[in-house]
Amino acid sequence: MEKSYACWLQYDRINDRNLCEDYRKFCQEVAVKGESVILHSALKELKNGLRSMLDIEPIIYKDEAMEASIIMGTYEQLHLQEYGLDSQLFQKINEEGYLIKTIKKKEKETLLLIGKSDKGVLYAVHHLLRLLQLRESLNQLEFIESPKNQIRMLNQWDNIDASVERGYSGQSIFYDHNKITQNHKRIRDYARLLSSVGINAISINNVNVWKVETKLITHEFLADVAKIADIFRAYGIKTFLSINFASPIEIGGLSTADPLDNEVKKWWKNKAGEIFGYIPDFGGFVVKADSEHRPGPFSYGRDHADGANVLAQALKPFGGIVIWRCFVYNCLQDWRDRSTDRARAAYDHFKPLDGQFLDNVILQVKNGPMDFQVREPVSPLFGALEKTNQMMEFQVAQEYTGQQKDLCFLVPLWKEVLEFDTYAHGQGSAIKKIVDGSLYNAKFSGICAVSNIGDDANWTGHTLAQANLYGYGRLIWNPELTSEELAEEWIRVTFGHDSFLIEQIKQMLLDSWSIYENYTAPLGVGWMVNPHHHYGPSIDGYEYSVWGTYHFADRDGIGVDRTLETGTGYAGQYFSPNKEMYNALESCPDELLLFFHHVPYTHRLKSGKTVIQHIYDTHFKGVAQVEGLIEKWSQLQGKIDEERFTNVSNRLQLQLKNAKEWRDQVNTYFYRKSGIADEENRAIY
Ligand code: GCU
Repeated sequence: MEKSYACWLQYDRINDRNLCEDYRKFCQEVAVKGESVILHSALKELKNGLRSMLDIEPIIYKDEAMEASIIMGTYEQLHLQEYGLDSQLFQKINEEGYLIKTIKKKEKETLLLIGKSDKGVLYAVHHLLRLLQLRESLNQLEFIESPKNQIRMLNQWDNIDASVERGYSGQSIFYDHNKITQNHKRIRDYARLLSSVGINAISINNVNVWKVETKLITHEFLADVAKIADIFRAYGIKTFLSINFASPIEIGGLSTADPLDNEVKKWWKNKAGEIFGYIPDFGGFVVKADSEHRPGPFSYGRDHADGANVLAQALKPFGGIVIWRCFVYNCLQDWRDRSTDRARAAYDHFKPLDGQFLDNVILQVKNGPMDFQVREPVSPLFGALEKTNQMMEFQVAQEYTGQQKDLCFLVPLWKEVLEFDTYAHGQGSAIKKIVDGSLYNAKFSGICAVSNIGDDANWTGHTLAQANLYGYGRLIWNPELTSEELAEEWIRVTFGHDSFLIEQIKQMLLDSWSIYENYTAPLGVGWMVNPHHHYGPSIDGYEYSVWGTYHFADRDGIGVDRTLETGTGYAGQYFSPNKEMYNALESCPDELLLFFHHVPYTHRLKSGKTVIQHIYDTHFKGVAQVEGLIEKWSQLQGKIDEERFTNVSNRLQLQLKNAKEWRDQVNTYFYRKSGIADEENRAIY
């Protein structure tokens, strides 16, 4: 298998003989207690990894054979006392958690992989294999691990014609010519990749549910959906579908989709029964309603709680949930209208409904109030909903962050979001505590993200974009992991252990977000992209359109006034002291200045520079930094296989071209608008 296809599951042969011997002594005989499809996958993964890295075929015992050197199973099935363990230990970890421990049994070193459930065993196996990949010692191991977040999900934005909305790595792996694919290999390999980093849920079709996709919840497609759910189930991943709110009309033959209509309620109940007949552990629905022209409850004078609850009621008897998106805003705005503010919309729509949703509804909120820009503040809805389940939506797909042509390692961005203190319940109310359910004791919570994969040979187009998928899974399992740790871990399991190589790539990854920010939209203003496809610069591309995404640059200044006194009042949606911090020009952080304030070009930033000089400097710097990335990568020639080396080299050249275009367009535009020259007299066209 090509390294690029295997991503972080290459399991290269371990050549160090001593290390290999050390590992082998643990891995000759494996005892598995219990039977389930997930345990079956766990064993398959283990055997595959050991064969590949250590060249051994362990003897497998289908019971708790004492002679085995690896013993795996769930805590309820194993005789814990034989290993000196107390079942109390497992009270501390959640359903998906596990223990990995090295013990001495009759003078023999033995490795225990004990899950709270069979999923825990699968995760323990992945953890063990990762330790081998990382060349860690297996002596005296003791890990007690639980995922911090409950739902750890990916949203595929795949259409049934095999196109992928905002997809930058080929076609869908799920669909083919308006059918669900029967080629399951790739889906199984995807499931393996995802489970190895702890993902436990997936929605398999685009949130925009078009005509044919609306029928995914009918007999015509459900048998094939069920086959996909079987594949994911074996890897501990629950399958969800995005649905069309107008389904009762479009496929049900009703004249309305009014959520309070009894026929509509009945229709959804029957539909849920039908789906669960095919997929007994179906996850539920993801819903984009009343958003960007998709149908929703507003058509019937109902609100989002009415809309979500009719679905939730239908799914409830079967244990299904509704994931209802909060990406709801007026997308028919007039640029002259300075009072309507897209950033306010999610909060304005959903905050008043807090407490009105059934307990199997989760509101899915994008990390920022606009739309996955390179820099946005955190959505003020986090923390504002006390009585409603909520989850985070990130975008692993690099829609506004370089489209997997430009390098942009997103883990530092996600970490910044998760660490942000909302002060919802005083200091220490970080976003990570809201999405892990602990702040408000939520029944359901978690994190999801738009996936970045397609049928490209290397899954993600840009080989280094694999780091985003890997980092996303590992980070949401444990948000305490640092960006540095995650970058290094990914590099080791992907490219090996050469220390020069590790340092070079690590630096490239860690610098990349700020580099991308430098040569694109400055100081949090966002949106200066080409309309529709969103790659490359177009400063006024969205400035006079209906989407509510303006920078309001004129000859005097730039930025959006979102203050309480003279602006849209958006800053007031935050809890104190964030509210005051953003509202006041003096305390607003530089990187978000233009998100909250309209200022003259001569306004001095905290950095001491004027806004206009900052724009020039960062854009020149951004291009120089991309040249630096190219230089760093070129030093790795010979240390990386040709295919992956060339893939990244080519993408970096595209990035350089893009960065130069951004630099020149942005600098020229603002030079012309402001009439203020660059202090360093560099070339501005
Ligand atoms: C963005 C994106 C769309 C997507 C939408 C959403 O606007 O460009 O392609 O449909 O977000 O999240 O629903």
